[in-house]
Amino acid sequence: MSSSFLQNLNGNSTSDIPFWFMRQAGRYLPEYKKVREEAGSFLGLCKDPQKASEVTLQPIRRFDMSAAIIFSDILLIAEALGQELTFTDGIGPQLGDLDIMFLDGQNTGEKLSYVGEAIERTRERLPIEKNIIGFAGAPWTVACYMIEGKSSNNYSQARLFAWRHRKQFEHLLDILIHATADYLKMQIKAGAQAIQIFDSWAGVLSVEEFRSWVIKPTKDIIQRVRQVYPHIPVIGFPKGGHLMLPAYIKETEVNCLGLDSGVPVAWAHMRLQKSCALQGNLDPQYLLLSPDMMKTRLEHILTELGKGPFVFNLGHGIDKKTPVENVEILSQWLKKWIR
Ligand code: CP3
Repeated sequence: MSSSFLQNLNGNSTSDIPFWFMRQAGRYLPEYKKVREEAGSFLGLCKDPQKASEVTLQPIRRFDMSAAIIFSDILLIAEALGQELTFTDGIGPQLGDLDIMFLDGQNTGEKLSYVGEAIERTRERLPIEKNIIGFAGAPWTVACYMIEGKSSNNYSQARLFAWRHRKQFEHLLDILIHATADYLKMQIKAGAQAIQIFDSWAGVLSVEEFRSWVIKPTKDIIQRVRQVYPHIPVIGFPKGGHLMLPAYIKETEVNCLGLDSGVPVAWAHMRLQKSCALQGNLDPQYLLLSPDMMKTRLEHILTELGKGPFVFNLGHGIDKKTPVENVEILSQWLKKWIR
C-alpha cells in the first residue's frame, strides 16, 4: 500500500492529512545552522551529499512530516548550464553575466549528480513509510534569476528582456525545459517519489505570457518526465497564478496543485479540487503568531481542503524567524487531525 502522501497526490483522500512544509530544512532550525556552518557556505552544503542528506532528515526527526524534500536549490541548474552562481549571506543568490548562446544544456542530470547522491543517502536513512520529494524551478522563474542576476521584487529586467528579445528568451526557455526534464528524471532515478516544480514568479505575468511561459514549459517538462516515469506524481506551484489556475491544471496535467496563501480555500475546493489534488496554503507568517491565531486559520484550511485529496503545506517557504516550538505545535495538530 502506498503512503497517504502518495495516495492524496494521486487523487485519493485518506482519513489522515499528510503534510510537509516548503523550506522545512533551514535557518529556523539550530541543527541546520550547525551543519551549514561546518559546510562553510550554502553552495558547499548543497554539493556535499552527506551533509545535504543530513539537513534533509533533520526536520523529519523533529516533526515527523510525511515527506522529506531533498535539500538543494532551484538555481543550481543555472550553474550546471554554465552561468556562474554564488550565494552571499545577507544578499542571496548572485549570478554571473548571461550569454544564452554559450549555455550548455547537455547532460544536466549528470552535472547535478551530487543531488542524486544526496537522494540515495537520504533513502538509506529515511523510514520506509516516508517519501522523498525531488524538485526543480520552472523555466520562467529560473530564467528570471538568470536574466536579473539576483533576486528582484518585480522581475522588470527579465520581462523587458523577454519582450525586447523574444527569440533569445524563448531559446533560453527551451534550454531550461530540456535541462530541467533531464534533472528531474535523474532525481527520480535516484529515489525521488514525487516531484515539485516551483514557479515562484508566475504571478507577475499577463494571461498570454502565463500561457506561453508558465503553462507551456511546465507541460513540456511533465510530458518528458512522464514518458519515462508515468507513475511519479507531479506537484506544480505557480505562485500568484490565481485566475489562471484552472487552465494551469487542465493543460499541464499536474497531479497536484500547490496553492499560495492568497488563494481562497473555499474557492479552491469548489473550482479546482475536482480536477486534481491540492496542497497548501497556510501563510508562513502565521507561524510567528500565537498558536491560537494559527489554529483558527489552520482549522479553516483543513475543513475546506480536507473535503478532497489534499496535502497540507504552507503557502510559501517557512520564515527563518519562525519559533521551532510553533512548528512543533502545528505538526502535532496535523498528526491528530482526522477527517
Ligand atoms: O524546501 C526545502 O527545505 C528544500 C530546500 C529549498 C531551498 N530553496 C533551500 C534554500 C528549496 C525547495 C528552495 C527553492 C527555491 N530557491 C526557490 C523557490 C521557492 C521560493 O522560495 O519561492 C527560490 C526562488 C530559490 C532561490 C533562492 N535560494 C533565494 C532567493 C535564496 C535567498 C533567500 C534567503 O532566504 O536567503 C536562496 C537560498 C536558500 N535556499 C536558503 C535555503 C535553506 C537559505 C540560505 C542559507 O541557508 O544560507
